[in-house]
Amino acid sequence: MLIEPAAALEGHLAVPGDKSISHRSLLLGAVSDGDTVVRGFGRSDDTLSTLGAVRAMGVEVDDDGETLTVHGVGLRGLRGAELDCGNAGTLARLVVGILAFQDGTFTLTGDASLSSRPMGRIAEPLGRMGAQIETTDGRLPLTVTGGTLEAIDYELPVASAQVKSAVLLAGLGANGRTTVIEPAPTRDHTELMLREAGVRVTTRPNSASVDPPERLQLGEVDVPGDFSSAAPFIVAATIVPESRITLHDVNLNPRRTGLLDVLERMGGRVGIVARRKLGQEQVGDLEVRSAELTATTIGADEVPLLIDELPLFALLAAHARGRSRVWGAAELRLKETDRIEALVDALRAIGVRARAEEDGFVVTGVPSRPRGGKIEARGDHRIAMLGAVAGLASSEGVEVQGFESVSVSFPGFHDLLEALTRR
Ligand code: S3P
Repeated sequence: MLIEPAAALEGHLAVPGDKSISHRSLLLGAVSDGDTVVRGFGRSDDTLSTLGAVRAMGVEVDDDGETLTVHGVGLRGLRGAELDCGNAGTLARLVVGILAFQDGTFTLTGDASLSSRPMGRIAEPLGRMGAQIETTDGRLPLTVTGGTLEAIDYELPVASAQVKSAVLLAGLGANGRTTVIEPAPTRDHTELMLREAGVRVTTRPNSASVDPPERLQLGEVDVPGDFSSAAPFIVAATIVPESRITLHDVNLNPRRTGLLDVLERMGGRVGIVARRKLGQEQVGDLEVRSAELTATTIGADEVPLLIDELPLFALLAAHARGRSRVWGAAELRLKETDRIEALVDALRAIGVRARAEEDGFVVTGVPSRPRGGKIEARGDHRIAMLGAVAGLASSEGVEVQGFESVSVSFPGFHDLLEALTRR
């Protein structure tokens, strides 16, 4: 896919429903009593993997193209099955927490990328709770046989919402109160949705606990727009001069919007209008105008608040005056690809000075358009989107190899981007 330089981005848009919340709505809907109606479901390869998985476990889901209705089978009602998780790390990690207390045996597989990602990080704490999990050298394929679980207090060795969620979900079927302590706050969609489903969830800034409920009753979920899918547009409108766009109904959960805080200290111009609540989540509209940026540093505590936006941050840094640095982000090496190497290679390929560090990266920015060139997506949707935005803000355009991987989170990305672009 060749992305030509843009003169400006203009107009209004809404992005698809949040991927994290969409996965969770299906998983928690599946083990609820009664029906759960999901509006605004974010349809993508990843969330369709979760839809396929819950159906494989005997859960009926009606899909009229807009609304999904999940006919819940109750807390322990899932049927043993083989689950193809595709590329979806969130599915693979979260579902094991629920399977650990079902009556049955489940086998999880995934694509080549997912099969290279660590699963020991969930198998270890769930094993402590009494779960029977067998991994393949700490990776997929993985088999879990459900049984009786005991609650634990678990201190996460890495800041990961997926691991936190897996343990809390296992806590739904454990004897006693399960607590997870985090090294830094991570996204809390699981806690918020569990509360919505009637579960007693106790949270502190660095911990979350669940008490096992008799049943879950979710009822309805309105999925807000995905901040991580809004991010490429926010970054594009910031770095392409003369731009002005408005994004509607975007999830503004403060544990997801670290990019906005970072942009603010770089000199970005993003206004939040009409902030409101949608269920347990916050949403709002964002007005973004182009801006001149200065470099900044992001450290370990801030990293989880923009973990999926760090490739895009690297592009902001390329357009900012001065040297920007990210540290404490070794987790990036364990995403759909090694994102530290992928983003550094991508920036260099278009003429930007960047260097990888063990747990982060350094980018030397100049407030003018990079030349452009060829970027390899490496099968990673976030790197493909970085490439497209880089093309708009380049002087000669960017060819993104493997662009089709955007469908992992955002199938309509290219059309929406083109609709806003003036050349
Ligand atoms: C997610 C958590 C994050 C994030 C991923 C989605 C979630 O992963 O990168 O895209 O929905 O819980 P980690 O928790 O492993 O950092």
